[in-house]
Amino acid sequence: MKLIFLGPPGAGKGTLAAKAVDILKLPHISTGAIFRSAIAAQSPLGLKVKAIIDAGKLVDDGTTIELVKERLAQADAQKGYILDGFPRTIPQAEALAEFSKVDKVVNFDIPDTSVLERLGGRRVCRKCGHNFHIIFDKPKKETVCDHCGGEVYTRDDDKPEAVQKRLEVYRAQTAPLIDFYRKKGLLVDVDARPAVDQVVENFKHALA
Ligand code: AP5
Ligand code: ZN
Repeated sequence: MKLIFLGPPGAGKGTLAAKAVDILKLPHISTGAIFRSAIAAQSPLGLKVKAIIDAGKLVDDGTTIELVKERLAQADAQKGYILDGFPRTIPQAEALAEFSKVDKVVNFDIPDTSVLERLGGRRVCRKCGHNFHIIFDKPKKETVCDHCGGEVYTRDDDKPEAVQKRLEVYRAQTAPLIDFYRKKGLLVDVDARPAVDQVVENFKHALA
């Protein structure tokens, strides 16, 4: 199955994807995670995108489309994938349609108040990428990952100014994709407000 996870920053896309990977046995392809690894490795891509991402803006369509095209051409993505954070603009969605046929687009339905609460408390493991939350999923030791012992940190783009910018960018450039995919009959809505286990149930129900 070829799935897109669509939703505002902090909706819980990455958290649900980590669960859905076990359920559906599909690779989780997150453009945000690919960019963050490139930044950590200080690769040419990482150096190019760091300031853009830290400011909460979007990386240009050309760079992002090329990256996803190459990633989807790899063997593990042939039978299906969970594409998280792409497409994020209409041109990205149009480009994707030319190289892959998506089965469903999962739209994370969540109000801004929840998004702000989730992003404000998010902490991430630098090594395995697990998303913690200082209230909802607290690591036993503040800066150490329970799963792999990696360092738990706050993403630069979770600072308040960057969060505001990301929400603005989402409304202007990404939210129009809801109608775009609804018109194509591909959109399924998932209530992303409850606790993680319930969101997993809502997701399974939406796919059934
Ligand atoms: P990206 O990493 O994709 O960021 P995002 O879309 O803003 O999504 P987030 O990772 O912030 O949130 P999420 O929905 O995954 O929530 P999470 O599961 O962590 O992109 C980062 C940047 O890269 C972009 O701003 C852009 O610059 C660039 N980029 C990426 N893709 C691009 C593209 N296609 N084009 C151009 N640029 C691109 O959950 C959030 C928190 O809530 C966590 O703390 C978690 O523990 C908690 N939580 C999750 N679910 C629940 C729940 N049900 N109940 C309680 N707490 C929960
Ligand atoms: Zn970890």
